[in-house]
Amino acid sequence: MKPAHKLLFVLCPMLVFGFIYYSSGKLHSYVWGQKPHKDVEPTVKVIKVTSHTSKSTVSQEPVVDGAVSAGRIVGSGTASLQRVHSGQHANPSSYFGRPVFDKQGFLVHLDAKLPPELLYKYGNLSEGACKPGYAAAKMTAIYPKFSKPATMFLDRNFKRLAKVINYLPPFGFRTQERIIDFILTATKNYGLGPDLDRLSCKRCIIVGNGGVLSNKSLGSRIDEYDVVVRLNEAPVTGYTRDVGSKTTLRITYPEGAIQKTERYEKDSLFVFSAFKPLDFKWLRQMVLKEKLQGTEGFWKSVARNVPRDPSEIRILNPYFIQEAAFQFIGLPQNNGLMGKGNIPTLGTVAITMALHNCDEVAVAGFGYDMNMPHAPLHYYETVKMSAIKESWTHNISKEKEFLRKLVKSNVITDLTNGI
Ligand SMILES: *[C@@H]1O[C@H](CO)[C@@H](O)[C@H](O)[C@H]1NC(C)=O
Ligand SMILES: *[C@@H]1O[C@H](CO)[C@@H](O)[C@H](O)[C@H]1NC(C)=O
Ligand SMILES: *[C@@H]1O[C@H](CO)[C@@H](O)[C@H](O)[C@H]1NC(C)=O
Repeated sequence: MKPAHKLLFVLCPMLVFGFIYYSSGKLHSYVWGQKPHKDVEPTVKVIKVTSHTSKSTVSQEPVVDGAVSAGRIVGSGTASLQRVHSGQHANPSSYFGRPVFDKQGFLVHLDAKLPPELLYKYGNLSEGACKPGYAAAKMTAIYPKFSKPATMFLDRNFKRLAKVINYLPPFGFRTQERIIDFILTATKNYGLGPDLDRLSCKRCIIVGNGGVLSNKSLGSRIDEYDVVVRLNEAPVTGYTRDVGSKTTLRITYPEGAIQKTERYEKDSLFVFSAFKPLDFKWLRQMVLKEKLQGTEGFWKSVARNVPRDPSEIRILNPYFIQEAAFQFIGLPQNNGLMGKGNIPTLGTVAITMALHNCDEVAVAGFGYDMNMPHAPLHYYETVKMSAIKESWTHNISKEKEFLRKLVKSNVITDLTNGI
């Protein structure tokens, strides 16, 4: 090698390293130089506090977390930092013009205003008319991941439902395909019925079982809805002034099913929601009017006879349990298996179903006021609120956070203001 070449050979790498060293120093001092790292922390905290004081029902660590956001704040310069520090920024959901979402994917700053495109869409409707697509549109506005199509009940094509095919009950129907096939062959009906299926705009109400329904005389308002959904054994007879008399469908799991055959109301659908594999076996026996073989495996006594024609029986799409648990509420995934605190309550499952299948959604009889321990827990029993126990299966407080988002942003209307 010639000496000149040797020199180049040594100089080139030196130049390269020199440049890298120089430029990294520059970058470093540009980003962190003026604002030492410790200043970033309080900034993030200020944002969190703002979101909490605005009383939105945000989960614990919602707004800005991780180095990406911190980097963004620093990168966007000291002007915005100052603004954040002095608390002039009123809207925590759109720092620096970007909407902020919580861990579940809900907009952090919720409000009840109608977006301009919906104002236009519903502008010509007369006062009080049913607004087509309203609940789903409002849901999408606060939760952009929402996708409306999801059939209410399983039909003969259920094996094509990609989202549920790989989950065991309650989040799907894996291992139960044959028995479901068998049941659906017997029921032969998979919709709400011709009159309701034809409606171009459906209003649904989910009637919860809460004591908040008592003495509010909401019965006639509830009966005005096109679809009235009731849960488990919640009675109608004797309570119609407060809870109405119409039942379009009653969603039930075996332990919650009405046991006195005379209490089943005519003209309502028996909608089955499975939480464990054994539940499907129970349903097959009910459909076939077989004698129930023992009640082992159920956590309380179950109905031995459902006085319903197979054509009045439906199976609720288990996707609503899965979506409510893992996406809306954010309960533990537990590898897709049932586990501690990861089962949504039937009421929230019903609301999830309605978001996909109704144009407007209302609820009544939801929520417990823990400040009133002596108020009745259910509208039909004398059991007091104070009797409510820490549940192994449900996470009531996390579930309530989700429901409050829906109420706060007017996705659903809460007639009894309990949520
Ligand atoms: C509302 O009515 C006006 C006047 O008839 C019409 O021009 C407009 O297109 C209508 N808007 C919608 C969303 O139907
Ligand atoms: C409802 O009204 C009845 C009769 O006035 C009363 O006995 C009952 O305690 C009330 N229930 C609630 C929850 O306020
Ligand atoms: C409910 O969720 C919260 C927050 O994730 C958790 O701390 C609590 O232990 C959960 N409760 C139950 C009963 O699983």
